[in-house]
Amino acid sequence: MYEELLPHTLPTEAERLDRMAHAHDPDTYSTIERLNLPANANCLDIGTGRGSVAIWLAETFPAANVTASDLDLTSVRENTLPNLTLKKIDLRRDDLGTGVYDFVHCRAVLCFLPSRIEVLSGIFRSLKPGGVFIATEMDFSRIASGPDRFWAAFWTAYLEFAASQGWDLGFGGTLPRVLARTGFTETDARHIQPILNHSGNTAGSAEAETWSLTLATLAPQLIGQGFMSETLLTEALSIIRNPEAWTAGPGFMVVSARRPSA
Ligand SMILES: C[S@@+](CC[C@H](N)C(=O)[O-])C[C@H]1O[C@@H](n2cnc3c(N)ncnc32)[C@H](O)[C@@H]1O
Repeated sequence: MYEELLPHTLPTEAERLDRMAHAHDPDTYSTIERLNLPANANCLDIGTGRGSVAIWLAETFPAANVTASDLDLTSVRENTLPNLTLKKIDLRRDDLGTGVYDFVHCRAVLCFLPSRIEVLSGIFRSLKPGGVFIATEMDFSRIASGPDRFWAAFWTAYLEFAASQGWDLGFGGTLPRVLARTGFTETDARHIQPILNHSGNTAGSAEAETWSLTLATLAPQLIGQGFMSETLLTEALSIIRNPEAWTAGPGFMVVSARRPSA
């Protein structure tokens, strides 16, 4: 389970989640800005992590009500925003309600949940008619097929490890048609493929550091459970941490969709 492998109690977890947020927040914010949310929108961020998106929403839409939720809220950054509420929600068990939200957001959460299709139905139900959902989920499809044989072999081994945990890191690639099947309309999707370069204060560097920390944390399982050799992992980490390399990292699908108004 996700929380056993990457618990918020790890000494490096806050840093890992901050790096991930630094890499993806600008793209998430511009996707949200295109949707013209009502000023007083009722918003829910699920699997909020450090809460960067929820905090940005509460600051950007002062008349909105924003709920930041996660199964473990201990990593959410301290703030005094009057329109931000924290709520413990385990998406595997808890009901999100019916017709409650104008906007639901999630990023890098559904792919880790074996019950992701049921969770999507719950998100659909939780939206008001006309409400909007934005998800950013991993889409490894391109990286596992190349272009470099070593790189494809490494990420294929990582995908096999992920599958053994019930994670579907190709889920982002299926999201547009899964959303259509769930009843969403106006689905808009973009595949983004960050380029990893471990230098400076860039999004690509933050993405490289996120993967560096993730792989270092998961090394005992990746190697101990026989998914890859120590040599393979060390070589991959040396590419990810190389300030002179610009290497395509795993991709993401960014999707926005709407619950029909009628
Ligand atoms: C990879 S982090 C992403 C954090 C944040 N969405 C971001 O992109 O910066 C995944 C988050 O999902 C949360 N999570 C994992 N399983 C969950 C579950 N069953 N219910 C609610 N949250 C969950 C984790 O606690 C973690 O904060």
